[in-house]
Amino acid sequence: MEHEHTDPVRPRRRRLLVTGAGGQLGRALVEAFADEEVIALARADWDVSLPPPPLPPLDLVLHAAAWTDVDGAEADPQGAAAVNVGGVANAAALGAPIVVFSTDYVFDGTKGEPYVESDGPNPLSAYGRSKLHGEGAAGKHAWVVRTSWLFGPTGHNFVRTMLQLGRERGEVAVVDDQRGCPTYVGHLAEGVRELVDADRERGVWHVAAEGDCTWADLAEAVFEEAGLRCRVRRISSAELGRPARRPPYSVLRSERPGAPRLPHWREGVAECLRRLGAGAARG
Ligand SMILES: NC(=O)c1ccc[n+]([C@@H]2O[C@H](COP(=O)([O-])OP(=O)(O)OC[C@H]3O[C@@H](n4cnc5c(N)ncnc54)[C@H](OP(=O)(O)O)[C@@H]3O)[C@@H](O)[C@H]2O)c1
Repeated sequence: MEHEHTDPVRPRRRRLLVTGAGGQLGRALVEAFADEEVIALARADWDVSLPPPPLPPLDLVLHAAAWTDVDGAEADPQGAAAVNVGGVANAAALGAPIVVFSTDYVFDGTKGEPYVESDGPNPLSAYGRSKLHGEGAAGKHAWVVRTSWLFGPTGHNFVRTMLQLGRERGEVAVVDDQRGCPTYVGHLAEGVRELVDADRERGVWHVAAEGDCTWADLAEAVFEEAGLRCRVRRISSAELGRPARRPPYSVLRSERPGAPRLPHWREGVAECLRRLGAGAARG
């Protein structure tokens, strides 16, 4: 008797593909969906700007592969587009329901209050433009999850960089004229799971941490949580002089009923540092 397929308390596991599985969000997605049948492909397994390798039928694609070098995209916009537009098109062509990820950098940051899904985009950078075109390449049947300022226990991110600098130096200079929602990848991955499990309507969803701050505030929070005595010198974006322009204000909020609500960004910092074994001992 084949109980496995008829047992109502054990529904069939979904087979899902995670692209960019070596990246910080890709890893968090693999964890959040660990009870499903996950095919995790890192860049070496599938360069998403090329057609996919042979794959079995899929119930869901979580497309976390992307060109995320914001400044590097200014020098090579075509390279960024090949991954962020062509890669999305290739993943969408697999034909399964798909989640693609986009960014607060599709906005110009002049609104001065939180951006919701119906606000018009106007990217300031080649990266932002490539991600906006990628949203278009995902098709009408995709969940397009716009998120912001991601950090996690692996990969290149601001929190890990600050942790390292805070251990080496007595002071760091950090920009204080960009405001956004630093989002912990573990919290985002849980939010994505909520979105797909509830089978919410397809289209654009803003999913970012509660609260908002500047990069300088975030650096101070990291030092405080980690018990590091490093001072933050607040500087302007002009002083830092990066090649790509960033929006001065890119807080994301959702206007859609049923949108996943993520924990506050400070809880994300605390959780990330716990994962890194870097939280301060608190009495
Ligand atoms: N990071 C942020 O602050 C942020 C903010 C808003 C939205 N997002 C979006 O969130 C998603 C996940 O970002 P993330 O922070 O997890 O970035 P990440 O850590 O840089 O991960 C992206 C992954 O994609 C891989 N990749 C790059 N080019 C590829 C290609 N041609 N084919 C296959 N894989 C490729 C990278 O591999 P290599 O490392 O080997 O290049 C990396 O493992 C992206 O869509 C990003 O645009 C990120």
